[in-house]
Amino acid sequence: MTRRLLTNAGLATFADIDAPYGLVEDGVLALEDGVITWVGAEADLAPEFADWPKEDLGGCVVTPGLIDCHTHVVFGGNRAREFEMRLEGATYEEVARAGGGIVSTVRSTRAATEDALLEQALVRIDALIAEGITTLEIKSGYGLDQETELRMLRTARKIADLRPVEIRTSFLGAHAVPPEYKGHADAYLDEICLPALAAAHDAGLVDAVDGFCEGIAFSPTQIARVFDKARNLNLPVKLHAEQLSDLGGAELAASYGALSADHLEYLSETGVEALAGSRSVAVLLPGAFYTLRETQMPPVELLREHKVPIALATDCNPGSSPLASLLLTLNMGCTLFHMTPEEALAGVTREAAKALGLSDRGTLEAGKRADLAIWNVSHPAELAYRIGFNPLKERIFGGSQ
Ligand code: NIG
Ligand code: FE
Repeated sequence: MTRRLLTNAGLATFADIDAPYGLVEDGVLALEDGVITWVGAEADLAPEFADWPKEDLGGCVVTPGLIDCHTHVVFGGNRAREFEMRLEGATYEEVARAGGGIVSTVRSTRAATEDALLEQALVRIDALIAEGITTLEIKSGYGLDQETELRMLRTARKIADLRPVEIRTSFLGAHAVPPEYKGHADAYLDEICLPALAAAHDAGLVDAVDGFCEGIAFSPTQIARVFDKARNLNLPVKLHAEQLSDLGGAELAASYGALSADHLEYLSETGVEALAGSRSVAVLLPGAFYTLRETQMPPVELLREHKVPIALATDCNPGSSPLASLLLTLNMGCTLFHMTPEEALAGVTREAAKALGLSDRGTLEAGKRADLAIWNVSHPAELAYRIGFNPLKERIFGGSQ
């Protein structure tokens, strides 16, 4: 039995406690066999803990281990040239329609071996882990053929064998229409995407099914076909929706009880109401908003009014969000989307866990996994306030370093 008592800490629990951040001052956490068994103020600590091994955290702040609930960290190549083109005046959509964008990463990903994909992904994963991430989601979607989609998902799964982090995978075969099916999106779904989803599911590689509902990708009717297949396989769904225009993607996702709808810059009030009704999480991705120099803000105030849970994620990918920092994402969520630091931090802990359908993490409460981040700061708001500064002191994954 492994027991640890962490003492002298400010605990940002994000639990249902009547204090901003669910903050417990002079707090203590008891960890046993990878699980949190007690959380509270030192003054309330029961005598039974007296002989537990203690670690004095010197007044540091502890948060739940951070969760990046939307990433595309497995891919080949990079798109720095496309970044230059956009700075020369081309839009994201123009680059995509000219055969660049997602499809150019598809070419590099198809050409990469599993070892090469893994090696490149680990660089990004290590950057995320260094900032206290303990769980992250990884999507396929740069293969768009069965072999490469499965290779991406196997690579994602392998990361969890090599690093102390939990990986959740999403099948994103409906990310773009590959060049060989240009103009034939439905045939691509029938002949490649849906069979690849079934094969990836058979191989135990899929935790959820995602899609990109947009003029440059798939229509709501086409996404519904992918979601029907997910439903047959008993897999939860999520959707890239309302990023560049409003196609009613959020309403569609909500009608399938989606875990989340992501991006959402063009989300309408009807879409917000639909998400509220289905208890889906709104995942905001300020890295993509920033990189594409978007000006349309996601409707944060409406999401608040309708009590839709809001998560934040890096969307780490080679095109719209070459961002491997969840701390910078917190800052962007506040500065660009006017979220409060408390909302932003809840968005990478409690709400991000919901967006992945994980009820065993995301808050500091008895019974939750002992995934923690210990920070050299005196108040949690500091995590969202600084830019390019990593105050992580220690990360605990499943009870150990
Ligand atoms: O989440 N929006 C669609 N998919 C990704 C972008 C992928 C890419 O540009 O390579 C996103 O932003
Ligand atoms: Fe994305």
